[in-house]
Amino acid sequence: MAAARFSETVTGDVRDGVLVVTIDNPPVNALSADVRAGLMAALDHAKASADIVGVAVTGAGRIFIGGADIREFGKPPVEPHLPDVLDRIENFAKPVIAAINGAALGGGCEVALACHGRIAGEKASFGLPEVKLGIVPGAGGTQRLPRLIGIPAAIDMTGTGRSVKPEEAARLGLADKIAADPVTEAAQLARAVAGTPLRRTGALTVPVADAATVEAAANKVLSKARGQASPGEAVRLVRAAADMGLRDGLAEERATFIRLRDSREAAALRHVFFAERAAGKLDKLDGVAPREVKTVGIVGTGLMGAGIAVATLTAGYRVIGVEQTEEAAAAGRDRIAGMLDKAMQSGRLTAATRDQCLARLTVAADAGELAPADLVIEAVFDDLTVKTDLFRKLDGIVRADAVLATNTSYLNPDEIAAATAHPERVVGLHFFSPANIMRLTEVVDCKATAPDVLATALAFAKKLGKLPIVCGVTEGFIGNRIYSAYRREAEFMVEDGAEPQDVDAALEAWGFPMGIFAVNDMAGLEIAWAKRKRQAAMRDPKERYVEIPDRLCEAGRFGRKSGRGWYDYSSGHRAVDPQVTALIETARAAKGIVPRRFSSEEIVARLLKAMANEGSALLAEGIAARASDIDLVMINGYGFPAYKGGPMFASASPS
Ligand code: 3HC
Repeated sequence: MAAARFSETVTGDVRDGVLVVTIDNPPVNALSADVRAGLMAALDHAKASADIVGVAVTGAGRIFIGGADIREFGKPPVEPHLPDVLDRIENFAKPVIAAINGAALGGGCEVALACHGRIAGEKASFGLPEVKLGIVPGAGGTQRLPRLIGIPAAIDMTGTGRSVKPEEAARLGLADKIAADPVTEAAQLARAVAGTPLRRTGALTVPVADAATVEAAANKVLSKARGQASPGEAVRLVRAAADMGLRDGLAEERATFIRLRDSREAAALRHVFFAERAAGKLDKLDGVAPREVKTVGIVGTGLMGAGIAVATLTAGYRVIGVEQTEEAAAAGRDRIAGMLDKAMQSGRLTAATRDQCLARLTVAADAGELAPADLVIEAVFDDLTVKTDLFRKLDGIVRADAVLATNTSYLNPDEIAAATAHPERVVGLHFFSPANIMRLTEVVDCKATAPDVLATALAFAKKLGKLPIVCGVTEGFIGNRIYSAYRREAEFMVEDGAEPQDVDAALEAWGFPMGIFAVNDMAGLEIAWAKRKRQAAMRDPKERYVEIPDRLCEAGRFGRKSGRGWYDYSSGHRAVDPQVTALIETARAAKGIVPRRFSSEEIVARLLKAMANEGSALLAEGIAARASDIDLVMINGYGFPAYKGGPMFASASPS
């Protein structure tokens, strides 16, 4: 038979009696209505053709199936529904085998689960990431997965949304075999099992699991949920598979899926999903090619520089670190090697990759070594003279087309650029600490930055696996400017009568992992104090200024590292300190403020509004390209709960 077309996106060809069905729905082979209809038509064809003994299902390109089409959520559902397609696959008289060539995610994993066998290609991965979209699997994932791999492993996969690679999938019983050519193997398996009783996942009994193991797996997921509903619902549904028959379990799963799909949490997480895909895309960069980067120079190998070096090495680049002395260079190399070791111990790197990284690393005490670098990132002390001197010196060392990036947090990168002979090649790369772990990177588009330099910085950050957000030049960039507004508002409320612990409790109950005063204590209070003292003379005397943080610092309370800050840590954990309460009362009295009570709702609403107002200002000033970029900065750099969508989303659609 010549290739048959079952729909716009689904085709099939018969190979030795097996209909190989290919889904070709770029970019990720999502299960759009046309794909679902095509699969049904393919099954009709296989049923009607006496010479077809079985079916193999695969995806075109590098992905098997990326899941349900997220763009269809929120629109009226179109038949055939995915659960009906999967029900038909599971109960099909002829064998249907999944040939999993790439990622099988969400509905894609559910297709594989409904099949009578699963052959994983070497690039395959399996995952039910629905909880990351605020939903639960809606086409049998929570009921079929535990029948194949048991309740504890299914709780882990559905509750965390993590993907597993072929080896783990095979170990768990999710993949029957790993094969270099999964389509050929799947067709072979279909031929081999044709006419025999098929292994139908839904008919399997859920393996009996030890109650304590189930409880531990569930608690692990729930302890990380922090107020997000979907992980708990996923766990509940997987556990129910042990007690309910397939039909009831599927009905309960579907009802939960539909309820959550229409929830605010799901809308927020969908917003985050699309925000991440939009981030770093700028009209002005259309058609602009990034410069080639193979060798990266990193000046300064302290905590920040070493973190950047580790991220750069693990992304496959050659790294030349530079320090001022031989001793500092040796210490920098040790620091980087230590971080790589730690990554290996925690399973993030293999020993072989660690060794390859070290082989690509040199740390020298001579800036002249930077000559071959295509990109140099400075991570030296945040002082304007230090940085401008360095950039001037780099002008004489690196090639004229090498890109220079500054990792400054608070200085004006335009001033750093102006000190160089080629300001157009200067860009900001503001990493967050620890730079090898944190995903967020603000890419600062300076006044003179050339488009291909900006494109180079973005491409580099993406290659590092970072989430790059473009921003213009302003004090503190996007994140710290919003954080300052957030903090100022929190301090106003404390001065007006809220206790710091009330503010933190309200934020934590709302979904922040840590309240703002606890965060300040963790970061240390002295840097902001020094900055306030420097700026004191320039401050508008009419502007409201809360002196409480100054009083804390004057009393030697610099936060956690000094054992005391907004809280007392002498007992090893954060405790309310009557001395702080008294200090706050004195400060209020000095200004004649009669304290009033704040409800948790008011606290959260005011803080969200302060963040959103500052965000609107950043948009009006053209510092941020889009509101969703601001949301991503706050979610990925400042603990804003993703399932609330970020401050701009949350304030645009209040609950
Ligand atoms: N639906 C619609 N569009 C999708 C999509 C999906 N499931 N997954 C990705 N896309 C789109 C992206 O928006 C992007 O569009 P753009 O080019 O216009 O910006 C494009 O596909 C490429 O996406 P990525 O940039 O993310 O491509 P990568 O190659 O880096 O990653 C991927 C591919 C691993 C498949 C990744 O896109 C991904 O993780 N997708 C989401 C997977 C997911 O969550 N699936 C579950 C959906 S819910 C579900 O299945 C419910 C079911 O239980 C009923």
